[in-house]
Amino acid sequence: MKLKVLVTRKIPEPILEKIRNDCDVFVWDNEDTPIPRELLESKISDVDGLFCLLTESINSELLEKASKLKVISNMAVGYNNIDIDAASKKGIMVTNTPDVLTETTADLTFALLMATARRLVEASDFLRKGEWQTWSPNLLTGQDIYGATIGIIGMGRIGEAVARRTKGFNMNLLYHNRSRKLDVEQELGATYVTLAQLLRESDFIVVMTPYSAETKNLITYEHFKMMKENAILINMARGGIVNESDLYEALVNGEIWGAGLDVFEQEPVPTDHPLLTLPNVVTLPHIGSASISTRFKMANLAADNLLRALNGEEPINLVNKSHSQTQSEG
Ligand code: DGY
Repeated sequence: MKLKVLVTRKIPEPILEKIRNDCDVFVWDNEDTPIPRELLESKISDVDGLFCLLTESINSELLEKASKLKVISNMAVGYNNIDIDAASKKGIMVTNTPDVLTETTADLTFALLMATARRLVEASDFLRKGEWQTWSPNLLTGQDIYGATIGIIGMGRIGEAVARRTKGFNMNLLYHNRSRKLDVEQELGATYVTLAQLLRESDFIVVMTPYSAETKNLITYEHFKMMKENAILINMARGGIVNESDLYEALVNGEIWGAGLDVFEQEPVPTDHPLLTLPNVVTLPHIGSASISTRFKMANLAADNLLRALNGEEPINLVNKSHSQTQSEG
């Protein structure tokens, strides 16, 4: 009898076919809406594998119902939507999709940084609204990128890819990370600094660190007060890392100059969110990895991780290695 798999969103047909070759698949075949919670809860007890997205909260209550589940394959590099401890306790493997999205996400980080610094969205809206009457010296003036100081918080794979891009702009590169990255320091001339020093000295502060209990509310009002008045904050990681009401206050009070946000505490962000009322905030709907080719690669890698786990092989990107091994050895 074939193993059973639940896929929580429409994914490219060739990838689905690959999973179907080995497994019986139930797909929530909808591009734009997440699988209803009740359906996820009712299906989870009957499947061996789960292919899911960051829109699904795979918490301990859900995992209680997952009596046969062997693997949760998340189509994302981040996995803060999954209770890893609860999965590990049940011996369930959790996998993610790193590497394939690194350069695409770094591209968007730089695009968002540049759009915020040079007020691209505001300028485009200004023109379309018919407000462009004349060229004038101070019209829509922004901040320089070339030669500025950038501080990257979280020097993982994507942080490094962003760091490489700064070289084309002759930027002074600071970073803060749990551990020092001597190769990045050597190759790119990056300087390791404390968080406080990074906040005080950077013109651009780029948040790339994963979301965890330690990084929740990493940036609050006291941190904005340390930043330069011309500072621009870019958050490409997860919403809860930067406290949104503090960010709003900091922008309104002129503690910093602008912000570019690809992620929010609540997604989709409510359209009446105060941050959306500010002209110096550029907002995107969590599209860091959204190129056609990268999204295909992510789905493909998630499928490979899932199938390997179900076939008794080690998945390429196992997140909870020690836990699930301990469990299966025990
Ligand atoms: C991830 O993979 O974690 C991104 O946030 C979505 O691509």
